[in-house]
Amino acid sequence: MGILIVYYSWQGHTETVARELAGRIDGELEKIEPVSESGMFGKVMRAGLGMKAAIRPARTDLTDVDHLVIASPVWAQKVPPYITEYIAEVSNAAGKPFSVIVEMKGSGAENAIAIVRRKLEEKGMQYVSSAYTLEDDVEAGRIGEKIAEFAATIHRAAAAAPMP
Ligand SMILES: Cc1cc2nc3c(=O)[nH]c(=O)nc-3n(C[C@H](O)[C@H](O)[C@H](O)COP(=O)(O)O)c2cc1C
Repeated sequence: MGILIVYYSWQGHTETVARELAGRIDGELEKIEPVSESGMFGKVMRAGLGMKAAIRPARTDLTDVDHLVIASPVWAQKVPPYITEYIAEVSNAAGKPFSVIVEMKGSGAENAIAIVRRKLEEKGMQYVSSAYTLEDDVEAGRIGEKIAEFAATIHRAAAAAPMP
């Protein structure tokens, strides 16, 4: 089972979440690297408007991937423009399952998850599960249980999948 965990993290919280998840589901990690980080105003504006922004070459061909996980911070109740760009570049994704986990200070997780879900469903992918973590819990090392629950939803989907 090839699980690909794709994440973007500006300040490290989402990276902590992605690494914790990778340890539990034996997933491969892929970090989205922006070509350039914009300033704070640009970040809020681009995320808020649902814009894209250039990223360095990343693993976007999902031919050999059995389950895609997107891990993203919440920005302006939405997702960073680098996540939007990554999703736009995803190919050979039709029919494949995906899950979404977002990391935030306190509000907007539901909306951010809905955005990622809709965009991946437009690519013909199949939604499996979602979760969110809070910045304070990441910093206090309190995300283990939540990540374990999320990992279990991915394991269950894998167990239910037809054999190749
Ligand atoms: C541009 C920007 C916009 C943000 N907007 C929100 C928001 O709408 N809701 C929220 O709860 N947190 C928001 N945050 C806080 C981040 O989601 C939170 O700090 C998260 O842990 C950052 O993840 P990272 O450390 O992986 O970059 C925002 C942070 C930035 C930089």
